[in-house]
Amino acid sequence: MRENKAVGIIGLGCYVPEKVLTNFDLEKMVDTSNDWIVERTGIKQRHIAGDDVATSDLAVKAAEQALADAGISADELDLIIVGTATPDMYFPSVACIIQNKLKATKAAAFDLSAGCSGFVYGLVTGSQFIISGLYKKVLVVGAETLSKILDWTDRNTCVLFGDGAGAAVLSVVDDGYGILGVELGAEGAGGHYLSLPAGGSRLPASELTVANRSHFVHMNGNEVFKFAIKVMGEAALKALENASLKPEDVDCFIPHQANIRIIQSAAKRLKMPMEKVMINVDKYGNTSSASIPIALKEAVMNGKVKKDDTIVLVGFGAGLTWASCVIKWCKEDNTIV
Ligand code: UT7
Repeated sequence: MRENKAVGIIGLGCYVPEKVLTNFDLEKMVDTSNDWIVERTGIKQRHIAGDDVATSDLAVKAAEQALADAGISADELDLIIVGTATPDMYFPSVACIIQNKLKATKAAAFDLSAGCSGFVYGLVTGSQFIISGLYKKVLVVGAETLSKILDWTDRNTCVLFGDGAGAAVLSVVDDGYGILGVELGAEGAGGHYLSLPAGGSRLPASELTVANRSHFVHMNGNEVFKFAIKVMGEAALKALENASLKPEDVDCFIPHQANIRIIQSAAKRLKMPMEKVMINVDKYGNTSSASIPIALKEAVMNGKVKKDDTIVLVGFGAGLTWASCVIKWCKEDNTIV
């Protein structure tokens, strides 16, 4: 018979590249303004990776921090899952690249494609391997270098995104702690609203696809906005219901950091006071699958998340997808490693 195990996060890490690109910098690149970006999105700046930096470089730094925070070594890892929309290359996966860089020789490794929901999809997936008894320690990473796939002449998209990585180590934790409820979902019918059309088997790379700028992010912002407004609150409510909890039981709400107006709308739907909502979209922009673990790490470091707190993570993104997870926080300290 299967044992009923509590699975939670025992270590967290995050990393963003040093270079900062402000809205004022963007004013010099496209027809936009700081006022427009702040008012419509809440973003003031974002971090951008250098030309010689790939997603796995950011992922390794976040992962090393998470391992140190968990107090375990890489060779104890049984599995590495990386949620990313911006892998270093088609294959090998980022998970395999970082398995090698971390020397996590025992770990199985794969990437997971769920857009900005990738980290929470990864948490839920990774936890199942521990619940089943197959694995003991799982590393889940959300890492992106979106700057590499943005059309820097398209003001509709280039102002929104940033680069970064976040990582978490999953393990069995004391009963009553860890992941209490989850909700995953997808609406493939809306997939065309947010895509990178070329470079795959549908539209292999060619001179024409390059000339058509088809290797960049294409987005219908309004449609994605409407989708996000609908699913963020719903997904969080379903995860809470799955955990037999209500929004008033939540101590900290950690939404995907895409747009302050989407975050406010989700908080309103949950009747969540804004003091309980983690917001850092102003500093990093939308870092896709990295946004939730970066926000969670910052929330833990600044004391917004403490031992025994009930937290809700919720994201939405390309696919279209959504993912939410309710966690009872089990870590005693919030040491900065
Ligand atoms: O993680 C998932 C990834 N995607 C998202 O999260 C995106 C979700 N969507 C959004 O956040 C919002 O829809 C946007 C921020 C992308 C756009 O905000 P909006 O309030 O929906 O603006 P809009 O698309 O309705 O555009 C309003 C106007 C347009 O001009 P016209 O047609 O009214 O003359 C745009 O061309 O704003 C214009 N615009 C800009 N103006 C200055 C669009 N981008 C910019 C810009 N600077 N960067």
